[in-house]
Formats: sequence, C-alpha cells, structure tokens
Amino acid sequence: MLSVRIEPAGIALQLEPGERLLDALDDLERVEVLAVSCRAANCARCLVRIHQGGDGLVPPDADETRLLQMLGASSDQRLGCQLRAAFEGSQAVVSVRLVAAGAR
Ligand code: FES
Repeated sequence: MLSVRIEPAGIALQLEPGERLLDALDDLERVEVLAVSCRAANCARCLVRIHQGGDGLVPPDADETRLLQMLGASSDQRLGCQLRAAFEGSQAVVSVRLVAAGAR
C-alpha cells in the first residue's frame, strides 16, 4: 500500500500497487482536489508538486513526460491525473501539494 496525503485539502488515502490516485479520489467523490479536466495528460490543469516519497509512484509515461517538458516543469512536479502507486516498494508516503495556476 502507498500512503498519499494531498495538501492543502488535507486528504489522506491508501493506494494499492498499480492503483491510480485519480480513481481513488473518484471513489471518495473528492476528485475536485486535483482540478482535473482532460484526465489524459493533455491539459496540465492537474499539475502538482511531490514533496516526498515520489519513488513510491510509477514514473511518468511518454505522454506525461512530453507535457511536463513542454511546461518546463521541475523534477518534483507531476500531473496529478497520472499518479499511480508503484508495483514494488510502495511503502512511501507521498505528499502532493497542488500547484496554483501560473505558479510554476
Ligand atoms: S487533467 Fe489534464 S493533464 Fe491531468
């Protein structure tokens, strides 16, 4: 299990290996905390900063990497809609802080 805390919303949840954060938030009916729109690595509305434990996440795929590079995102930034618990070693606590629009 991967423990995830989303700030500033103050949401804490657990992800099974391979489970997408977006799906867990859908189940909780709290998906609005990620400000998602396209859900598919196209719009970047869901940009977040990983404060710790990023190695507990599956690395960005080609689509996410392309968009992060286009944005000039820093190495601790990810697309919230693409976050998925790693299949191995998912003991980390991931702290996700939302990035306000225009505050990269
Ligand atoms: S919701 Fe569009 S990139 Fe994540």
